[in-house]
Amino acid sequence: MRTQVGIVGAGPAGLMLSHLLHLHGIESVVLECRSREYVEHRVRAGVLEQGSVDLLCRTGLGERLQREGMRHEGIELRFDGESHRVPMTELTGRAITVYGQQEVVKDLIAARLAAGGRLLFEVDDVRPEGLDTDSPVIRFRRDGREEELHCDFVAGCDGFHGVSRAAVPAGVLTTYERTYPFAWLGILAAAPPAVDELIYARTERGFALYSLRSPEISRLYLQVAPDEDIADWPDERIWAELRARLETVPGWSLNEGPILEKGITPMRSFVVEPMQWQRLYLAGDAVHIVPPTGAKGMNLALADVALLGDAFAAWYGEGRTDLLEGYSATALRRVWRAQHFSWWMTSMLHRLDGQDGYEAKLQSSTLRYVATSRPYATSLAENYVGLPEV
Ligand code: APR
Ligand code: PHB
Repeated sequence: MRTQVGIVGAGPAGLMLSHLLHLHGIESVVLECRSREYVEHRVRAGVLEQGSVDLLCRTGLGERLQREGMRHEGIELRFDGESHRVPMTELTGRAITVYGQQEVVKDLIAARLAAGGRLLFEVDDVRPEGLDTDSPVIRFRRDGREEELHCDFVAGCDGFHGVSRAAVPAGVLTTYERTYPFAWLGILAAAPPAVDELIYARTERGFALYSLRSPEISRLYLQVAPDEDIADWPDERIWAELRARLETVPGWSLNEGPILEKGITPMRSFVVEPMQWQRLYLAGDAVHIVPPTGAKGMNLALADVALLGDAFAAWYGEGRTDLLEGYSATALRRVWRAQHFSWWMTSMLHRLDGQDGYEAKLQSSTLRYVATSRPYATSLAENYVGLPEV
């Protein structure tokens, strides 16, 4: 098989890149180790920045998003028994849209298949090779048969556990990393959300987040220990803990319902630099991870491939190399802004065990400052809705 850009991974990054390349008249093939069913139903993030919504709409993917996505103009911070709204749209002129990552993935897959795009699911043993030549090849197995995909470039969009990053020789990449001493237990519940906007709550019992997916489905998270066993969390314990952390303001209660899904996600910050080596271009979770507190993961993945799409278009269309050469440095500016914001939100909202109380006092003071200072709230808001230029 031959194509122009060989893409590893059918998450938001790989699929969006394939879609953007198609709009520029550039061919690609996407190789994904999981099934279509699996990637379309994997429950992940759900917040789209204004810039991500604009990108999806601009490239013909806005139809269902406009209909089913929920535009939010603020978020609520709950701490010390009080609620404070950060009026994001009033402060920045922009908003976020709540729309599940798997819905974005479904829309992208449908668009690629409708346009005759080649997406190969359930391929095994993907091996990018010859990355330091003009004609890289991706070897893989499909239905037990060995196959080869010859291409001009390889895009590594295969997430944190993918193989692309590992194809770069030792010594080329620098890794920056933090792990946090907690994880998130997330649930999807068949319960009408008791909120119109997301609630980020800091309590002495730990952090909790109230989010949603639709008028019938709530998405909630609890800070738990990093080694927590989900088996120790029967549904009733989860609801009791959510009530204890969220029902902290008078007269407010959450809505309960059957839990459809539950899981534990570790929290880490991770960046690899540069995001390119020879003919390999890396994007999304393959090169950077943020803790979910800032809701940035999917947005960063989309922002990376928006740059990459333009860079490949300039190369194929006009023989320009500048955008491809500048890709890593340009993308990393946004990546580091999101790293800082996600780390800051995480540090401000989570309970830190073993602290003498000093950090907890700083957290309260920081939250109160956000609640009372328009410039400080604007800083939170402009990062949360996404900065157009970084
Ligand atoms: N071969 C082929 N495909 C692979 C391989 C491999 N060896 N390893 C991983 N993949 C696939 C995964 O199955 C997944 O479908 O690559 C895809 C990577 O997709 P994501 O993990 O969704 O990463 P990305 O597209 O960068 O999107 C980032 O995902 O984890 C969330 O919070 C994160 O919202 C952010 C988004
Ligand atoms: C979600 O709805 O899944 C969600 C929302 C906000 C976050 C993280 C996750 O910060």
